[in-house]
Amino acid sequence: MSWGLTVRYELGDAQVHRFEPAGFDVAISRFGTMFFSDPAAAFANIAAALRPQARLVLLVWQPHEHNEWARAIDAALGDAARPPQPGADPFSLGDAEATAGILQGAGFDCTRFEDVHEPVHYGQDLDAALAVVRGFQDTSAALASLSDGEAARTVERLREMLAAHYSDERGVVLDSRSWLITARRRR
Ligand SMILES: C[S@@+](CC[C@H](N)C(=O)[O-])C[C@H]1O[C@@H](n2cnc3c(N)ncnc32)[C@H](O)[C@@H]1O
Repeated sequence: MSWGLTVRYELGDAQVHRFEPAGFDVAISRFGTMFFSDPAAAFANIAAALRPQARLVLLVWQPHEHNEWARAIDAALGDAARPPQPGADPFSLGDAEATAGILQGAGFDCTRFEDVHEPVHYGQDLDAALAVVRGFQDTSAALASLSDGEAARTVERLREMLAAHYSDERGVVLDSRSWLITARRRR
């Protein structure tokens, strides 16, 4: 069956990319927009690409303290855990009031925040889950900052933390909270 859609892929920085002005009916991002280094300018750029009343749909993490997976990983990393760098903070849009203000300023109305409270699955066994967590940018940077001995002890702590969240039925599962944000381009 054909849906009559034409799909074109473009690689670009959504903060500054020259989209066709008022050329789109919807903009969707899953766990991407938290990494904008200048969210006000970035969302204004996206707003300019949308038609009046077009939809914006975002999934972003709620604050760090509401996300068990992030607290657990940081606890295991201990002193090696570092504050996120600007433009690399997965929790930068977690404050709903602040984010609503950014979207309002960028030209969006009717902003809604829906609490998405779902488990995150890191793998069916411990080795798979450890590989996933070691692949996170913050985790790999933290481990790279340590001596070989400290890194090995830290990896062992990560493994113990993941083991505490393991079950035969579900594998390694931790709790998470994110916001499903919807808004409309102002007329
Ligand atoms: C955590 S990944 C999420 C990937 C995917 N959406 C998903 O849910 O599995 C973050 C994504 O945001 C993208 N991203 C971050 N900043 C961006 C920007 N300024 N413009 C376009 N994409 C960006 C990255 O390229 C990366 O693919």
